[in-house]
Amino acid sequence: NGHGNGARGALIVLEGLDRSGKSSQCLRLVSYLKGLGFPVESWHFPDRTTSVGNMISSYLSNESNLDDRTIHLLFSANRWEKRSLMEHKLRAGTTLIVDRYSYSGVAFSAAKGLDLEWCKAPELGLLAPDLVVYLDIPPEKAAERGGYGGERYEQLEFQRKVDQHYRTLHDPTWKVVDACLSMEDVEEHLRQLAKDCVSSCQNGKQLSQLWL
Ligand code: TMP
Ligand code: MG
Repeated sequence: NGHGNGARGALIVLEGLDRSGKSSQCLRLVSYLKGLGFPVESWHFPDRTTSVGNMISSYLSNESNLDDRTIHLLFSANRWEKRSLMEHKLRAGTTLIVDRYSYSGVAFSAAKGLDLEWCKAPELGLLAPDLVVYLDIPPEKAAERGGYGGERYEQLEFQRKVDQHYRTLHDPTWKVVDACLSMEDVEEHLRQLAKDCVSSCQNGKQLSQLWL
């Protein structure tokens, strides 16, 4: 296990504030890795296609209201319901580029005042990313980019709080990329980081579990 054809895929997560460029960069990275011949898929949380995802989506578009802890647990459940498929894909050799993960879950809920440890608890035992890239942008700059779609949370004051909680979650293994660089420069940084990560997984790096 871990070499040549039996190699597993890498779990690569992009995090950052709304409008930091995650979604565009995920897609660019996926096409790049595909072009190099790696099996790769683009994933996104929340996955709005499931029934839990539907509840999340209607909450985000303000069509429904939910208690803060309830929506927190739904976001987490939405990752849990994809965990076995995620593990299967990774072990079968597919690299997953994931737009948001548990760090969004914790940073956004903690920004409402929920206890950080309480927020982390339901995430324990999900698969740990092999690489977390944080697209770093000041909240004011993100807001200037426009295109806040009017969903819940897409407000400067709230994003400032999220930003602070992301900073609490940062650990030394995160790779921080300046999201104010040009699209091309950000893309180039991501390519290098992702290639290194995919190689380390091919060379036997083990899958592990989050926050255990
Ligand atoms: P999206 O814009 O990437 O689809 O995410 C929708 C919003 O949901 C975004 O403002 C971040 C927030 N979010 C959480 O609050 N908790 C989570 O676990 C995730 C994945 C996203
Ligand atoms: Mg959004």
